Formats: sequence, C-alpha cells, structure tokens
Amino acid sequence: MKFAKNILCIGAGYVGGPTMAVIAAKCPGCKVTVVDVNEERIRRWNSDDLPIFEPGLLDVVRSARGRNLFFSNDVVAGIKAADIIFVSVNTPTKTFGHGAGMASDLQYWEKTAHEIVAHADRSKIIVEKSTLPVRTAEAMECILQENKKGIHFEVISNPEFLSEGSAVMNLLEPDRVLIGSRQTESGRKAAQEIAAIFAHWVAADKIITSNLWSAELSKLVANAFLAQRISSINAVSALCEKTDADVAEISFAVGSDTRIGPRFLNASVGFGGSCFKKDILNLVYICRSYDLNEVADYWQAVIKINEYQQERFVRKIIKEMFNTIVGKKIVLLGFAFKANTGDTRESPGIFVAGKLLEERAQLVISDPQALENARKDLAGLDGSVEYEPDPYRAAVDAQAIAVITEWDIYRKLDFAKIFASMRKPAFLFDGRNILDHQKLFKIGFNVFPLGKPSLTHFK
Ligand code: NAD
Ligand code: UGA
Repeated sequence: MKFAKNILCIGAGYVGGPTMAVIAAKCPGCKVTVVDVNEERIRRWNSDDLPIFEPGLLDVVRSARGRNLFFSNDVVAGIKAADIIFVSVNTPTKTFGHGAGMASDLQYWEKTAHEIVAHADRSKIIVEKSTLPVRTAEAMECILQENKKGIHFEVISNPEFLSEGSAVMNLLEPDRVLIGSRQTESGRKAAQEIAAIFAHWVAADKIITSNLWSAELSKLVANAFLAQRISSINAVSALCEKTDADVAEISFAVGSDTRIGPRFLNASVGFGGSCFKKDILNLVYICRSYDLNEVADYWQAVIKINEYQQERFVRKIIKEMFNTIVGKKIVLLGFAFKANTGDTRESPGIFVAGKLLEERAQLVISDPQALENARKDLAGLDGSVEYEPDPYRAAVDAQAIAVITEWDIYRKLDFAKIFASMRKPAFLFDGRNILDHQKLFKIGFNVFPLGKPSLTHFK
C-alpha cells in the first residue's frame, strides 16, 4: 500500500510507543514506524505483552499494528524511509561530569542526531518529542547542518504532555498540542505539516504554535508548575499535622477558587515519576547557567519540599511505632509512582523502602503492576524484602501498612479481614489519603493520615 507520509519515531518507550500508536490509529494514510535499539522492547511491542502497562493501549496498538504501525530495531532503514522523524529517546539527569545531578544527559539524543545525518539521503522534518533543555534545537540544527549532502532538516519542538496511567486518553483528547518552529517560511511550513497530523483528531484551537524556544521551555515550565502545586499542598500538610487542620478540606476550599482549580492538590508521600524531578533539576541548572540564582533557588525548593515530605513520612512511621521498627513486618501497599502504571521511576516507594530497610524492618511490597520493577529497584539493598501481589496475603502477621500508591483496589479492600490477620497494635500510614480513616479506626487500626489528625487507640 502507498502511504501519504512515512513517519518514524526513534525511541519506543513510555512516550514513543503510545504516541505513535495513537497517531497511526488516527491517521491510517500515514505509515508509522517506531524504532528502538532495545530488542526486548521491540519484541514486546510486536506481541500482546506490551513493554509498558497503560490502560487502553493494547486495543489502540492492535487496531493499527501491521496495518500502518510497525515496531522495529532497524533504525537505519527507518531513517532512510522517513519524511518526518520524531525523536523520543530518554533524556535522564546526568550522573557524571559537569552538571551531574542537575543537567540533562543528552548523549542518547545527540546520538540520534548523528545517526540521522549519517543515514538520511533527502530532506526531512525532525521533531523533538523528548523533553529537552531550552535551545537544544539549536544544537540539533548544528549537527544536522553538518551534512554534506545538500539536504535540509527543519527542526520542530513538539513536547509531550501525557501522563502515565492516562496516556491514551491524554493523547486522544489533549488539552493542547504544542508545536514550536523557527519563525521562517520553511519553519512555519514544517510546523503546519506536523499540525496537519494532529488535526486528524484534535480541534484546531487546541493546536498551538509558537517559536522553538517557547515550546521547549513550556514543557519544563508545565512540569515545574504541576510539581510546585504538589509541593505546596505537601508543605501545607505538615502544618496541618501541627494544627489539627485537615489538608483535604483545605485542598477543597482552596481549589474551589476557579482561579486556582482543584487538580494536583492531593497531599501525598511525595511526587515521583521519571520527569518532575529531572525536569525541575534541568530548569534549575539552566537558570544557574544564566546566573539567575534566585530563580534557580525558587524552583529548587519544589524538590526540597518533595524530599522533606518523603523523609517526614518515614520519620513518622518510625516515631509512631515506638521509635523502633527492627524486625517488624511492614507492608507497602503500592510501589508504582502513581496508580494505573507499573512504572516505578523515582517512586517515593523506593526511598521509603530503602529507609525502612536501613532501620531493619521486614518489608513486604505489594502492587498489582509494579513488582517486576520493584524487584529491580530494591535488588542491591540489604535486608528482608518479600514481594506479594495479593494485599491480603501480604498483610498476614504484619505490624503496619503504609499506602504508597493510590490504586483504586486499595479503597475497596476488606480492612476488617486484614486487621484480623495482623499483629497488634496494628498501624496504618496512609501516604495518599485514599482510605476511610474513621472506618479503619473503628476496626481497630491506629491510623496516621497525611495532613490530618491521627486516630489512635493509645491513651
Ligand atoms: P524511555 O526510557 O521509556 O524510552 C526511551 C527509549 O529510547 C528507550 O527504549 C531507549 O532504548 C531508546 N533509545 C535511546 N537511544 C536510542 C537510539 N540512539 N536509537 C534508538 N532508540 C534509542 O523514556 P520515556 O519515558 O518514553 O521518555 C522519553 C522522553 O519523553 C524523555 O525526554 C521524557 O522526559 C519525555 N517525556 C516522558 C513522559 C512520560 O510520561 N514518561 C511524558 C512526557 C515526556
Ligand atoms: C507528569 C505530567 O502530569 C505530564 O503532563 C508530563 O507529560 C509528564 O509528567 C512528563 O513529562 O513525564 P506523570 O509523571 O506521568 O505526568 O504523572 P502525574 O499524574 O503528573 O503524577 C506525578 C506524580 O505526582 C505522581 O507520583 C503522583 O502520584 C503525584 N501527585 C499527583 C501527587 O502527589 N498529588 C497530586 O495531586 C497529583
């Protein structure tokens, strides 16, 4: 079959896979190929055991795979055939050298730029899908212009705003699609070509165009604003615990102001995920590199509060359990960084588990999707860790339960049954405020919510 456009995506991860699956499903006239150096990932994308868990994704993949959606390890062939190349490789925080712990590690991204130059034999549009430091497109252009083949590459920034766990819905009904380009004739033309892809299913007023640097920076700023709201409410949760105010009531009262809005105001054990911390660190690093130290300090505080919140949660567990948890069985309910994903990158569960093990607790980790990743995350740590998907079995003989992930199934558990199987006194630390605390208290638990008065049976 002859396709109107050949679209390639380099990087078949949490962003590349779902994004391209939706584009393929919505644009049957385009051939969409997703390539990756990771053979196992591609093998799984070509099976029904997808490499990532994302509600609704398998149906979308199945609707297009083999028709106009293809997954392959052949990066070179993909580059040669493509009219448009999305680059969706990982851009983690640098762990070495200058900028370690702050700057983005751009090695994977730069490698793709060199691969494109080496193998492309006609002009193409290159789309930055990965989250990148502002002005990265300039570096991309420099590398691409080095080609001696007389071909032109137009670089576009099209940052991705999907959230894990709701990726398919976010892609099908995005709040906006942002397309940044050079403000030149060829830049605008390329932006229109990318906009035309999304116009197959996204309303025109939701497709925003801007200059390249605004698009790159908007992505970092959006994540920083979202994370800032969580750190703000988490900071308030600490004050609530000292004053008997209730953080959920405050979230509701404050979020009812239409200027503020209700979302992203749930106090938690801390935000996780592969991007919030990484992108804020990157923003901080960029600000410092421009000598904007006050601005850098401002954003850095968002991360500081997040670390404080995780530490506070652990300290509370230890303190309330009579300042020793040596040999005590503690169940972590959930390990994913949020519900509806198996992803554990930067999950607060990793920090909490590590600290509880240092205190020599016996841990049982329970999660419906994330145990495979949890095993890898905790592999190097000393101490006793069991992995048990069934929360009821996990709780037998436990002294405490700590809710780490807001999985819906935990709201519906039979806590009377769980309580009956636990050692007494039984403790429950709700790091997500998702449970009915009064009911738990009545069952017999000593309950420690976040940012709310604790409910204990001790005199
Ligand atoms: P990921 O690690 O899941 O996937 C990246 C993939 O790129 C990996 O499979 C890796 O093997 C592949 N890769 C790296 N170098 C390659 C190369 N030279 N050739 C071919 N393949 C290569 O990462 P992700 O979570 O999909 O994130 C990708 C980017 O999107 C990051 O910049 C991230 O900040 C951004 N982002 C992520 C999310 C999210 O929810 N995860 C949301 C929005 C934006
Ligand atoms: C986030 C952004 O929401 C996406 O727009 C962005 O594309 C993505 O980062 C990215 O760049 O990777 P994601 O990390 O998948 O998406 O998930 P979120 O729903 O934002 O949750 C992040 C963390 O904040 C989770 O640990 C979550 O539990 C926590 N959170 C969220 C809270 O603690 N409280 C809240 O009120 C909301």
